[in-house]
Amino acid sequence: MLHGPAFAARPRAVYEQLRAQGPAGWAEIAPQVHALVVTRHRAAVTLLNDTRTYSKDARLWKALNNGEIPEHSPVLGMMAWRPSVLYTDDEQHARLRWAMDDCLARINPHQLRETTRRSALTLIARIIDKGRADLMGDFADILPMLVFAELLGCPPEKTARMVHACQDLISAGPEAARGATDFAGLLYELIQMRRVRPGQDLTSWMIGHAAELSDDEALNQLFCAVGAGIIPVAACTAWTLHLLLRDDDYAGNLAAGTLTVRRALEKALWERSPMANFSVHYARYDTVLHGVHVPGGVPILISHAAANTDPALPQGLGYENRSHLAWSAGPHRCPAISQATTIVQTGVETVLDQLWDMNLTTTDPEPVLRHGPFHQCPQSMPVSFRPKSHDRLPANTLAGGTS
Ligand code: HEM
Repeated sequence: MLHGPAFAARPRAVYEQLRAQGPAGWAEIAPQVHALVVTRHRAAVTLLNDTRTYSKDARLWKALNNGEIPEHSPVLGMMAWRPSVLYTDDEQHARLRWAMDDCLARINPHQLRETTRRSALTLIARIIDKGRADLMGDFADILPMLVFAELLGCPPEKTARMVHACQDLISAGPEAARGATDFAGLLYELIQMRRVRPGQDLTSWMIGHAAELSDDEALNQLFCAVGAGIIPVAACTAWTLHLLLRDDDYAGNLAAGTLTVRRALEKALWERSPMANFSVHYARYDTVLHGVHVPGGVPILISHAAANTDPALPQGLGYENRSHLAWSAGPHRCPAISQATTIVQTGVETVLDQLWDMNLTTTDPEPVLRHGPFHQCPQSMPVSFRPKSHDRLPANTLAGGTS
């Protein structure tokens, strides 16, 4: 079972069970929802590059079409078809991906670093005098939401609403559906606003792109970017911090200046792929993947987490080697690698700079994960540090962000 408390507590044991079935194995990913999951690195690369056999179009999902998937299944938010890059193939994908790539390329990297640093300082200002915090709920979860609000051109008076909608959206609980509706409503308002008054933001660039997207397409593209971006950025920030705070060697090397945050981030991507099991595909017809029978119209997921830790990979690849699958591979490989890296790296550097003496307060070496099959993200990450005065933060820090 790739969901529920047992998986959240011991994911590696579940990946071992899946590996015992071969390069891909059957798993339950939510109550009454079954899928094939690829755990072998080589099989994953084959599938991700074979667009003739495998499609991303969720309308091929036979069990969903036959009414066999519970109406409120928690996996539908991520798996049900939408008109965006994530669920399209070939020319349709190329058109939407062209718009996505162009819009992401217009994000100024210096400005992104500055926005992230300012947002991080806003969050640090809320905890700096308290002496303890949960790095997930107080920092890593909210940071990408604040950054996205600015990237999307969300006016400050709507930012709190956007953050609340995103918080609901990413909770694997019953609020998720409400969050998705609220967030889509907000994006719709933004699109209408930016049609009248374009600005220098993702929303304006998406609706003004030469691919001439409809409002519905633009909304779903933006929804996809935020949906695909928030949790992995939060998770990657958390795992990078976890590595630096947990591992004495790392902490010592960082202080001595021999190890950069960037290298810790790469190690986190290899060992704790934030998008644990995703890249959902559907075989267009019955086929065989590295000896495993794959029926047409069944969801087949890539376990980026299991493929990255595949025992068949050569030992000692080193963290400079970028052949991990945390960003996926093939035509749907993450289009925002540099932006995601900038946000994580700047966030981690800023919090380490301000709360340099923080320590994890739990002795448990393996944090319990959030429930759900798709992401690998700690539920919480409690830390303590010596309380500090707000005076050490830049003067305008408290003015930004949301309540
Ligand atoms: C550490 C952070 C991130 C990780 C690990 C990550 C990982 C991934 C993975 C594994 C996929 C493939 C999904 C699939 O094929 O179903 C993907 C796709 C995607 N990601 Fe990221 N992502 C991250 C951050 C972001 C951010 C910040 C954005 C937006 C600014 C973003 C936008 C997208 C989009 C739009 C796609 C769909 C691409 C397509 O289907 O052509 N991601 N990402």
